[in-house]
Amino acid sequence: MKIHVTFNFFQSPLKLIRDQEWEISTYAGSYPQPQDALLQAMTDCDGLICTLFDRLDKAFFANLPRDAKHPLRAISQFGVGYDNIDIAAAETAGIIVTNTPGVLTDATAEIAIALMLAAARQISEGERLVRSGEWTVWEPNQMLGTGLTGKTLGIIGAGRIGTATALKARGFNMRTLYAARNPNLILETELGAERVSFAQLLGEADFISVHVPLTPATRHLIGSDQLRLMKPTAILVNTSRGAVIDEAALAAALREGRIAAAGLDVYENEPRLTEGLAKLSNVVLAPHLGSATRETREKMGMLAATNLIAALKGENPPNRVRPPRPYGSPTGNA
Ligand code: DGY
Repeated sequence: MKIHVTFNFFQSPLKLIRDQEWEISTYAGSYPQPQDALLQAMTDCDGLICTLFDRLDKAFFANLPRDAKHPLRAISQFGVGYDNIDIAAAETAGIIVTNTPGVLTDATAEIAIALMLAAARQISEGERLVRSGEWTVWEPNQMLGTGLTGKTLGIIGAGRIGTATALKARGFNMRTLYAARNPNLILETELGAERVSFAQLLGEADFISVHVPLTPATRHLIGSDQLRLMKPTAILVNTSRGAVIDEAALAAALREGRIAAAGLDVYENEPRLTEGLAKLSNVVLAPHLGSATRETREKMGMLAATNLIAALKGENPPNRVRPPRPYGSPTGNA
Protein backbone atom coordinates (compact mmCIF):
# COMPACT_ATOMS: atom_id res chain seq x y z
CA MET A 1 0.00 0.00 0.00
CA LYS A 2 1.04 3.59 -0.51
CA ILE A 3 0.20 6.24 2.06
CA HIS A 4 0.54 9.98 1.75
CA VAL A 5 0.74 12.33 4.73
CA THR A 6 0.21 16.06 4.14
CA PHE A 7 2.19 17.27 7.17
CA ASN A 8 5.20 16.46 9.26
CA PHE A 9 3.85 13.44 11.16
CA PHE A 10 5.05 11.86 14.41
CA GLN A 11 7.37 8.87 14.62
CA SER A 12 5.15 6.40 16.51
CA PRO A 13 2.17 6.48 14.09
CA LEU A 14 4.59 6.39 11.17
CA LYS A 15 6.14 3.26 12.69
CA LEU A 16 2.69 1.70 13.03
CA ILE A 17 2.19 2.20 9.28
CA ARG A 18 5.71 1.09 8.34
CA ASP A 19 5.18 -2.09 10.38
CA GLN A 20 2.54 -2.99 7.77
CA GLU A 21 5.36 -2.77 5.20
CA TRP A 22 3.50 0.05 3.49
CA GLU A 23 5.23 2.92 1.70
CA ILE A 24 4.85 6.45 3.09
CA SER A 25 5.33 9.78 1.34
CA THR A 26 5.21 12.99 3.35
CA TYR A 27 4.75 16.52 2.11
CA ALA A 28 7.88 18.24 3.40
CA GLY A 29 7.03 21.86 2.58
CA SER A 30 5.30 24.24 4.94
CA TYR A 31 1.74 23.14 5.64
CA PRO A 32 -0.71 23.13 3.89
CA GLN A 33 0.34 21.27 0.77
CA PRO A 34 -0.71 23.22 -2.36
CA GLN A 35 -3.88 21.78 -3.87
CA ASP A 36 -2.37 20.76 -7.23
CA ALA A 37 0.54 19.01 -5.49
CA LEU A 38 -1.92 17.24 -3.17
CA LEU A 39 -3.95 15.98 -6.14
CA GLN A 40 -0.75 14.96 -7.89
CA ALA A 41 0.29 12.98 -4.80
CA MET A 42 -3.01 11.09 -5.01
CA THR A 43 -2.05 9.59 -8.37
CA ASP A 44 -0.95 6.32 -6.83
CA CYS A 45 -1.98 6.47 -3.22
CA ASP A 46 -4.22 4.05 -1.32
CA GLY A 47 -4.51 6.06 1.85
CA LEU A 48 -4.24 9.70 2.86
CA ILE A 49 -3.56 11.18 6.28
CA CYS A 50 -4.61 14.82 6.23
CA THR A 51 -5.71 17.52 8.61
CA LEU A 52 -7.75 20.67 9.14
CA PHE A 53 -6.54 22.87 6.27
CA ASP A 54 -6.31 20.27 3.52
CA ARG A 55 -9.23 21.15 1.28
CA LEU A 56 -10.92 17.92 0.24
CA ASP A 57 -13.96 19.51 -1.32
CA LYS A 58 -16.20 18.47 -4.22
CA ALA A 59 -13.59 19.66 -6.76
CA PHE A 60 -10.90 17.56 -5.04
CA PHE A 61 -12.99 14.39 -5.39
CA ALA A 62 -14.06 15.30 -8.95
CA ASN A 63 -10.42 15.75 -10.01
CA LEU A 64 -9.00 12.83 -8.08
CA PRO A 65 -6.60 10.83 -10.23
CA ARG A 66 -7.22 7.18 -9.38
CA ASP A 67 -4.51 4.80 -10.38
CA ALA A 68 -5.94 1.35 -11.11
CA LYS A 69 -3.33 -0.28 -8.85
CA HIS A 70 -3.45 2.25 -6.02
CA PRO A 71 -6.79 4.12 -6.06
CA LEU A 72 -7.42 6.28 -2.99
CA ARG A 73 -9.63 4.22 -0.68
CA ALA A 74 -9.27 5.76 2.75
CA ILE A 75 -8.82 9.26 4.17
CA SER A 76 -7.76 9.54 7.78
CA GLN A 77 -8.30 13.01 9.20
CA PHE A 78 -5.93 14.00 12.00
CA GLY A 79 -8.50 15.94 14.03
CA VAL A 80 -12.04 15.60 15.30
CA GLY A 81 -13.51 18.30 13.05
CA TYR A 82 -13.76 17.39 9.38
CA ASP A 83 -15.47 20.39 7.81
CA ASN A 84 -12.56 20.52 5.32
CA ILE A 85 -13.79 17.26 3.79
CA ASP A 86 -16.87 16.79 1.65
CA ILE A 87 -17.96 13.56 3.28
CA ALA A 88 -20.83 12.94 0.86
CA ALA A 89 -18.48 13.31 -2.14
CA ALA A 90 -16.00 10.93 -0.49
CA GLU A 91 -18.76 8.40 0.13
CA THR A 92 -19.96 8.68 -3.48
CA ALA A 93 -16.37 8.05 -4.59
CA GLY A 94 -16.31 4.95 -2.35
CA ILE A 95 -13.67 6.42 -0.05
CA ILE A 96 -13.81 5.78 3.69
CA VAL A 97 -13.23 8.83 5.92
CA THR A 98 -12.22 8.65 9.58
CA ASN A 99 -11.41 11.22 12.28
CA THR A 100 -9.89 11.28 15.79
CA PRO A 101 -12.59 12.01 18.37
CA GLY A 102 -12.30 11.47 22.12
CA VAL A 103 -8.54 11.78 22.56
CA LEU A 104 -8.62 15.58 22.36
CA THR A 105 -11.72 16.17 24.47
CA ASP A 106 -9.97 17.13 27.71
CA ALA A 107 -7.29 19.25 26.04
CA THR A 108 -9.90 21.27 24.15
CA ALA A 109 -12.14 21.65 27.19
CA GLU A 110 -9.11 22.94 29.12
CA ILE A 111 -8.58 25.64 26.50
CA ALA A 112 -12.27 26.62 26.74
CA ILE A 113 -11.88 27.05 30.51
CA ALA A 114 -8.58 28.90 30.02
CA LEU A 115 -10.23 31.34 27.61
CA MET A 116 -13.14 31.94 29.99
CA LEU A 117 -10.73 32.75 32.80
CA ALA A 118 -8.41 34.80 30.61
CA ALA A 119 -11.27 36.85 29.13
CA ALA A 120 -13.01 37.34 32.48
CA ARG A 121 -9.85 38.29 34.38
CA GLN A 122 -8.09 40.17 31.56
CA ILE A 123 -5.02 37.97 31.66
CA SER A 124 -3.76 38.91 28.18
CA GLU A 125 -4.28 42.63 28.70
CA GLY A 126 -2.60 42.38 32.09
CA GLU A 127 0.35 40.54 30.60
CA ARG A 128 0.71 43.19 27.91
CA LEU A 129 0.78 45.85 30.62
CA VAL A 130 3.44 44.06 32.64
CA ARG A 131 5.60 43.38 29.57
CA SER A 132 5.30 46.97 28.41
CA GLY A 133 7.04 48.15 31.58
CA GLU A 134 4.22 50.66 32.12
CA TRP A 135 2.72 48.96 35.14
CA THR A 136 3.56 51.26 38.01
CA VAL A 137 1.67 50.12 41.10
CA TRP A 138 -1.12 47.90 42.41
CA GLU A 139 -4.31 49.95 42.61
CA PRO A 140 -7.68 49.01 44.12
CA ASN A 141 -9.57 49.74 40.93
CA GLN A 142 -7.11 48.59 38.33
CA MET A 143 -8.17 46.07 35.65
CA LEU A 144 -11.26 44.82 37.44
CA GLY A 145 -12.71 41.77 35.77
CA THR A 146 -15.48 39.40 36.67
CA GLY A 147 -15.40 36.01 38.40
CA LEU A 148 -16.66 32.68 37.12
CA THR A 149 -17.76 31.41 40.50
CA GLY A 150 -21.50 31.16 40.92
CA LYS A 151 -22.23 32.51 37.43
CA THR A 152 -24.32 30.88 34.71
CA LEU A 153 -22.50 28.85 32.08
CA GLY A 154 -24.19 28.24 28.73
CA ILE A 155 -22.91 25.33 26.64
CA ILE A 156 -23.92 25.36 22.99
CA GLY A 157 -23.61 21.84 21.62
CA ALA A 158 -23.37 19.26 24.36
CA GLY A 159 -21.22 16.62 22.69
CA ARG A 160 -17.99 15.29 24.14
CA ILE A 161 -16.13 18.59 24.38
CA GLY A 162 -19.13 20.65 25.52
CA THR A 163 -19.83 18.08 28.22
CA ALA A 164 -16.19 17.99 29.35
CA THR A 165 -16.07 21.78 29.51
CA ALA A 166 -19.14 21.93 31.75
CA LEU A 167 -17.77 19.15 33.97
CA LYS A 168 -14.41 20.92 34.29
CA ALA A 169 -16.23 24.11 35.29
CA ARG A 170 -17.81 22.24 38.24
CA GLY A 171 -15.24 23.74 40.60
CA PHE A 172 -16.67 27.19 39.90
CA ASN A 173 -20.12 26.18 41.15
CA MET A 174 -21.77 27.51 38.05
CA ARG A 175 -25.41 27.07 37.09
CA THR A 176 -25.21 25.16 33.81
CA LEU A 177 -27.55 25.65 30.86
CA TYR A 178 -27.12 23.83 27.58
CA ALA A 179 -28.67 23.97 24.13
CA ALA A 180 -28.42 20.76 22.18
CA ARG A 181 -30.49 18.62 19.89
CA ASN A 182 -30.65 15.78 22.41
CA PRO A 183 -30.84 15.71 26.21
CA ASN A 184 -27.48 15.14 27.88
CA LEU A 185 -27.99 12.93 30.92
CA ILE A 186 -24.43 13.35 32.16
CA LEU A 187 -24.85 17.11 32.37
CA GLU A 188 -28.28 16.80 33.93
CA THR A 189 -27.40 14.20 36.55
CA GLU A 190 -23.86 15.36 37.38
CA LEU A 191 -24.45 19.10 37.32
CA GLY A 192 -28.21 19.54 37.45
CA ALA A 193 -27.83 21.27 34.08
CA GLU A 194 -30.95 22.50 32.32
CA ARG A 195 -31.55 21.97 28.61
CA VAL A 196 -32.99 25.23 27.34
CA SER A 197 -33.74 26.87 24.02
CA PHE A 198 -30.89 28.53 22.16
CA ALA A 199 -32.48 31.96 22.73
CA GLN A 200 -32.91 31.36 26.48
CA LEU A 201 -29.29 30.28 26.81
CA LEU A 202 -28.08 33.38 24.97
CA GLY A 203 -30.20 35.64 27.17
CA GLU A 204 -29.33 34.09 30.54
CA ALA A 205 -25.74 32.86 30.38
CA ASP A 206 -22.86 34.89 31.78
CA PHE A 207 -20.35 32.67 29.99
CA ILE A 208 -21.22 31.07 26.66
CA SER A 209 -19.01 28.32 25.28
CA VAL A 210 -19.49 27.10 21.71
CA HIS A 211 -19.02 23.39 20.92
CA VAL A 212 -20.86 22.63 17.70
CA PRO A 213 -19.18 21.24 14.61
CA LEU A 214 -19.15 23.47 11.55
CA THR A 215 -21.84 22.41 9.07
CA PRO A 216 -23.94 24.43 6.63
CA ALA A 217 -26.55 24.77 9.39
CA THR A 218 -24.14 25.98 12.08
CA ARG A 219 -22.26 28.51 9.91
CA HIS A 220 -22.90 31.91 11.55
CA LEU A 221 -25.07 30.28 14.18
CA ILE A 222 -24.06 33.30 16.26
CA GLY A 223 -24.49 36.53 14.32
CA SER A 224 -25.63 40.02 15.20
CA ASP A 225 -29.19 38.91 16.15
CA GLN A 226 -27.86 36.29 18.57
CA LEU A 227 -25.24 38.69 19.98
CA ARG A 228 -28.04 41.15 20.67
CA LEU A 229 -29.77 38.55 22.85
CA MET A 230 -26.72 38.25 25.11
CA LYS A 231 -26.23 40.24 28.31
CA PRO A 232 -23.90 43.24 28.05
CA THR A 233 -21.81 41.44 30.66
CA ALA A 234 -21.67 38.16 28.70
CA ILE A 235 -18.39 36.50 27.78
CA LEU A 236 -18.35 34.35 24.64
CA VAL A 237 -15.79 31.61 24.09
CA ASN A 238 -15.22 29.62 20.92
CA THR A 239 -13.04 26.53 20.63
CA SER A 240 -15.00 24.80 17.85
CA ARG A 241 -14.72 26.40 14.41
CA GLY A 242 -14.42 30.10 13.68
CA ALA A 243 -17.20 30.26 11.10
CA VAL A 244 -19.81 29.20 13.66
CA ILE A 245 -19.61 32.85 14.75
CA ASP A 246 -20.01 35.77 12.35
CA GLU A 247 -16.64 37.29 13.23
CA ALA A 248 -17.40 40.76 11.84
CA ALA A 249 -20.60 40.88 13.93
CA LEU A 250 -18.67 39.73 16.99
CA ALA A 251 -15.97 42.37 16.48
CA ALA A 252 -18.68 45.05 16.23
CA ALA A 253 -20.42 43.80 19.40
CA LEU A 254 -17.12 43.82 21.31
CA ARG A 255 -16.16 47.24 20.00
CA GLU A 256 -19.54 48.72 20.95
CA GLY A 257 -19.55 46.99 24.36
CA ARG A 258 -22.73 45.03 23.53
CA ILE A 259 -21.07 42.03 25.13
CA ALA A 260 -18.25 42.27 27.67
CA ALA A 261 -15.55 40.06 26.20
CA ALA A 262 -14.67 37.04 24.12
CA GLY A 263 -12.07 34.32 24.09
CA LEU A 264 -11.31 32.83 20.67
CA ASP A 265 -9.19 29.86 19.72
CA VAL A 266 -10.58 29.63 16.17
CA TYR A 267 -11.33 32.15 13.43
CA GLU A 268 -13.66 32.45 10.51
CA ASN A 269 -10.85 32.76 7.96
CA GLU A 270 -8.08 31.23 9.97
CA PRO A 271 -5.31 32.33 10.35
CA ARG A 272 -6.53 35.73 9.09
CA LEU A 273 -8.54 37.82 11.53
CA THR A 274 -11.43 40.16 10.84
CA GLU A 275 -10.16 43.72 10.44
CA GLY A 276 -9.94 45.43 13.82
CA LEU A 277 -10.37 42.31 15.97
CA ALA A 278 -6.74 42.20 17.04
CA LYS A 279 -6.91 45.81 18.24
CA LEU A 280 -9.71 45.14 20.74
CA SER A 281 -8.55 44.73 24.31
CA ASN A 282 -11.67 42.79 25.37
CA VAL A 283 -10.89 39.73 23.28
CA VAL A 284 -8.36 37.02 24.10
CA LEU A 285 -6.91 35.45 20.96
CA ALA A 286 -5.28 32.02 20.86
CA PRO A 287 -3.82 30.33 17.76
CA HIS A 288 -6.10 27.24 17.59
CA LEU A 289 -4.49 25.53 20.57
CA GLY A 290 -7.44 23.29 21.51
CA SER A 291 -5.73 19.95 21.07
CA ALA A 292 -2.19 21.26 21.33
CA THR A 293 -0.65 19.17 24.07
CA ARG A 294 2.13 16.72 23.30
CA GLU A 295 0.21 13.77 24.70
CA THR A 296 -3.01 14.65 22.87
CA ARG A 297 -1.34 15.12 19.49
CA GLU A 298 0.50 11.82 19.97
CA LYS A 299 -2.81 10.05 20.68
CA MET A 300 -4.44 11.74 17.68
CA GLY A 301 -1.57 10.47 15.53
CA MET A 302 -1.89 6.91 16.77
CA LEU A 303 -5.65 6.99 16.26
CA ALA A 304 -5.27 8.43 12.75
CA ALA A 305 -2.82 5.63 11.85
CA THR A 306 -5.00 2.94 13.46
CA ASN A 307 -8.08 4.18 11.58
CA LEU A 308 -6.23 4.21 8.27
CA ILE A 309 -4.73 0.75 8.71
CA ALA A 310 -8.12 -0.75 9.63
CA ALA A 311 -9.88 0.94 6.70
CA LEU A 312 -7.27 -0.22 4.18
CA LYS A 313 -7.27 -3.76 5.56
CA GLY A 314 -11.01 -3.94 4.99
CA GLU A 315 -11.78 -3.88 8.72
CA ASN A 316 -14.26 -1.56 10.37
CA PRO A 317 -12.19 1.52 11.35
CA PRO A 318 -12.85 2.69 14.94
CA ASN A 319 -13.86 6.21 13.90
CA ARG A 320 -15.58 6.18 10.56
CA VAL A 321 -17.31 9.41 9.60
CA ARG A 322 -20.62 9.24 7.75
CA PRO A 323 -22.28 12.07 5.81
CA PRO A 324 -23.72 14.52 8.38
CA ARG A 325 -27.35 14.55 9.34
CA PRO A 326 -28.84 17.98 8.76
CA TYR A 327 -28.49 20.22 11.78
CA GLY A 328 -31.85 21.80 12.48
CA SER A 329 -30.96 23.10 15.91
CA PRO A 330 -27.72 23.75 17.72
CA THR A 331 -26.13 20.56 18.87
CA GLY A 332 -22.66 19.12 19.04
CA ASN A 333 -20.94 15.87 18.36
CA ALA A 334 -17.37 17.13 18.43
C1 DGY B 1 -9.84 19.32 15.69
O1 DGY B 1 -9.33 18.24 15.94
O2 DGY B 1 -10.81 19.47 14.96
C2 DGY B 1 -9.26 20.50 16.38
O3 DGY B 1 -9.77 21.69 15.91
C3 DGY B 1 -7.75 20.48 16.35
O4 DGY B 1 -7.37 21.12 17.55
